[in-house]
Amino acid sequence: MEAWPRLPAGFQFGVATAAYQIEGGVDADGRGRSVWDTFSHTPGRTRDGDTGDVACDSYHRYPQDVALIAGLGAQAYRFSVAWPRVQPDGRGAVNRPGLDYYSRLVDALLEVGIEPVVTLFHWDLPQALEDAGGWLNRDSAARFADYAGTAHVALGDRVPTWITLNEPFVHTTFGYGWGTHAPGRRLGLGALVAAHHQLLGHGLAVQALRADGLRGRIGITNACTPVRAASTEPADAAAAARYDAVANSCYNDPVLLGRYPAELAELAPAVDLSAVRAGDLAVIAAPLDFLGINYYFPTRVRAATGGDNPMGADRVPIEGVERTAFDWPVVPDGLRELLVGLSDRYGDALPPIYMTENGAAFPDVPADDGRVEDPRRIAFLDGHLRALHQAIEAGVDVRGYFVWSLLDNFEWAEGYSKRFGLVYVDFATGRRTPKSSYDWYRKLIAAQR
Ligand code: FCB
Repeated sequence: MEAWPRLPAGFQFGVATAAYQIEGGVDADGRGRSVWDTFSHTPGRTRDGDTGDVACDSYHRYPQDVALIAGLGAQAYRFSVAWPRVQPDGRGAVNRPGLDYYSRLVDALLEVGIEPVVTLFHWDLPQALEDAGGWLNRDSAARFADYAGTAHVALGDRVPTWITLNEPFVHTTFGYGWGTHAPGRRLGLGALVAAHHQLLGHGLAVQALRADGLRGRIGITNACTPVRAASTEPADAAAAARYDAVANSCYNDPVLLGRYPAELAELAPAVDLSAVRAGDLAVIAAPLDFLGINYYFPTRVRAATGGDNPMGADRVPIEGVERTAFDWPVVPDGLRELLVGLSDRYGDALPPIYMTENGAAFPDVPADDGRVEDPRRIAFLDGHLRALHQAIEAGVDVRGYFVWSLLDNFEWAEGYSKRFGLVYVDFATGRRTPKSSYDWYRKLIAAQR
């Protein structure tokens, strides 16, 4: 492969995971139930009925995982705190043993010089809050800020970087719109009420951490996809603009500009913004220290042909490119396109960006000698890092890059069937085997020093 372009001094390389996807230990130390426990234990909801009951057992094996991150030479580790470990019912008294787990993890990371990056909500809402309406209930926003403050009181002396929400778009769309993720509601565009309450929770959590004397930085992680119109026809361009509004701007505009994109109003009555109360957007737009972006693939859209599509937009396949095990198109340049597009749209309102997730699932199989060669993942990551470098050259302020994921893990509705890790996990034994992409990433990080 070609020589490596140099990323700016201080650029952070990391790896990312999320609590329910790796921890297991679902009954350990007073943890409460989350919507994902309920969903994965409901027949027919996940592939092969897989659950996160054991997952990678990182709740017990975290010292091994920390050693793997240290072995990479990574500067940072993004993990999520499970709300139901901290507040088993989503409110009230703190479950100290649950918080202590994260405290031990943070100490173990700091001991080997790895910066902890904490995501406060990566989709595992306490079931007790779901029983009260979940994110459709405005009160969940206040509950989230309360929990966020509690986590910060316990860990804020050692954790410099805080992410409020992970991908409210994906959580809203799959969890509340289509019902393919927990909590499994099928509200179509009516799901945007849940998005608004998550964003309000984000804003209130930013306030809570700042009030608690946040010493580091706080941001949100949004999933973004550059949207391309399938043709130059005005109807396709308009469909692409609507899709872009629902997928991207609906989450970036409120936090960066303090308003929802105008296209949403065109989607009434399917989109109902009556949950937005006076003053909410000012809370949501509290200044951020950074914007986290997760990128996996671009989206191609044309005007809908059927009349039953509330967004009036159909996704069409991007042809002629490699595809991952998820059937996602591999388009590294989409990352450059996305980052430059964000910079164009938001200008001075765009804070520094961290790529908080990027990666790919491939059907990795250990060879007879136990080694796991994953050249396609190496090519994927290599291509995306080059595209990222081009965006930086074009003037976008990107400060870090986190590979999804350190470990093969519980991939939500796909269970254990989709492997994203730099490290192969044998789910029967928990045994971890670094893949060739792990060695590639280690060398890349070393070469950037
Ligand atoms: C993202 C999620 C992450 C993981 C990757 C593949 O949408 O944030 O948990 O599932 O996709």
